[in-house]
Amino acid sequence: MPPSTVPGSTDRRIDALLALLADNAMIVISGAKIARQIGVTRSTVWRWIEKLRSLGVKVKGHPRTGYRIEKVPDVLAPNLLRRGLRNTLFTKRIHHFFKTDSTNNVAMRLGETGEPHGAVIVAEEQTAGRGRVGRSWHSEKSSGIYLSVLLRPPIAPVDAPVITLLAGLAARDAVAEQAGLAADLRWPNDLLLDGKKLGGILTEMYAEPDHVHFVVVGIGINVNHTRMPEALAPTATSLRLATGRTHSRLELLARLLRSLDRYYNQFLEQGAGPILRRFAETSSYAQGKRVRISTATETYVGTTAGLEANGLLRVEREDGRLQVVISGDVAEAN
Ligand code: BTN
Repeated sequence: MPPSTVPGSTDRRIDALLALLADNAMIVISGAKIARQIGVTRSTVWRWIEKLRSLGVKVKGHPRTGYRIEKVPDVLAPNLLRRGLRNTLFTKRIHHFFKTDSTNNVAMRLGETGEPHGAVIVAEEQTAGRGRVGRSWHSEKSSGIYLSVLLRPPIAPVDAPVITLLAGLAARDAVAEQAGLAADLRWPNDLLLDGKKLGGILTEMYAEPDHVHFVVVGIGINVNHTRMPEALAPTATSLRLATGRTHSRLELLARLLRSLDRYYNQFLEQGAGPILRRFAETSSYAQGKRVRISTATETYVGTTAGLEANGLLRVEREDGRLQVVISGDVAEAN
């Protein structure tokens, strides 16, 4: 893999340090050996170990005694992540950030400068995480999954909404495999547990009327948050809050990317049909749900009536008119 040259991304030698510690869990490795193997000074090793500790990695020891960890650290480091992604389209370019503004911003910039299909951008923390319709995305350090993938799909722009739906299915499957929970999907982009938001998807696209240059699929999942900020608490939750235990973000992220790979390939090979059917099976919002739709120009109430062939939502308005929702906020109506 070529060196990661993306400004601000994690030094590949920190990535190597994490892999070395993980591969030698429970074994004491001397600072000198680590320094030699990853090609830095012992004092740099010390500095980086301190940084890892600040992220919650439990590293025992100090420069004189050597270092040891007790279990694979839950840092979303490329070397560790790649091991869970064999035979997927996501192994080649994984860019990791300890902190960035928004992984979607990074991915959009990379898309414009020719980064290849399948690039993954992941962060431990976002300072300006973005949600749909101009909202922000709470991105607490080392608690959630903040992921963007760059895709260059050979599809027409009108079919791009299906990508958001398949990303939702992938997130839902990953959560089910990891925690045994059946999350709901609220069209187009919300992952819900007991009606509260567990995750969301922000798909952004650079396209011309008949050609997609690239699509960035941003996925946020609340994983190990022990509490949500007061303003979000009534409407948002985390896997930890829902299950009472912590979850490996590294495992969940690998499951998510494997699942995304499967659904994406299915979409390219078989078209939107199987994705739409699966979405209709798993989302309580696809059909027969009374909803309030808020768009930039109006708000109305109606009942969902299935999906269009390109993934847009059909809603039967109270006056009987059938409306196709292109964008807007969907909320359950009483
Ligand atoms: C939403 O529910 O409104 C969408 C939330 C999407 C959040 C993710 S976190 C990773 C990626 N980077 C961002 O700035 N946003 C998306």
